[in-house]
Amino acid sequence: MNPDLFSNQDQLPTDQLGPGAVVLRQFVLADEVPVLGTLRDVTAAAPFRNMVTPRGFTISVAMTNCGALGWVSDRRGYRYAPADPLTNQPWPPMPASFLQIAMAAAAQAGFGGFLPDACLINRYAPGAKLTLHQDRDEVDFAQPIVSVSLGLPAVFLFGGVERADKVQRVKLEHGDVVVWGGPDRLRYHGIMPLKHGSHPSLGAYRFNLTFRKAG
Ligand code: SIN
Ligand code: FE2
Repeated sequence: MNPDLFSNQDQLPTDQLGPGAVVLRQFVLADEVPVLGTLRDVTAAAPFRNMVTPRGFTISVAMTNCGALGWVSDRRGYRYAPADPLTNQPWPPMPASFLQIAMAAAAQAGFGGFLPDACLINRYAPGAKLTLHQDRDEVDFAQPIVSVSLGLPAVFLFGGVERADKVQRVKLEHGDVVVWGGPDRLRYHGIMPLKHGSHPSLGAYRFNLTFRKAG
């Protein structure tokens, strides 16, 4: 067997979810050690917190950000902000390795020239979930979303452009990357409540990095 076969990201399995949506299986697995180290550094500088929705509900997924812009939610609404509201300091800069992964994944999915300025970092403990929603706080819907899964597996819900549309259930595992853009950019999506488990590198959590061109 040719060992280079599996070091080449072009050879990894993919699942097409739509004309502009694909799961790149195990896409970050070869870079797991540096990615997890960088994730640790970023989240030490800007710790996870549970934000509240405009209606005052606490979001079960703990969140933080890196990059020029960070997604925030509070009683005033959802938006992108250049500073961490906990410190009024800029979010940690986007690590070069994160940017490279996001650009490479987007390019492989057919979206060349993706240059994200925001990376939302989600942490799911058992029971945490994300209800169906569209990503529409960004300025330019021509740019795709790149979403990296790490740690415990989860069931990703991928619906249509209408809330009531049929929903696909897609199991996402450590290292998988989902890219959606073009005609699929505004499809509803979410995450089912996380099941208990223990991941060899990340313990009882799932982490997700969502790269977007927000501004
Ligand atoms: C999101 O929709 O912001 C994140 C989805 C995920 O955690 O996979
Ligand atoms: Fe989303």
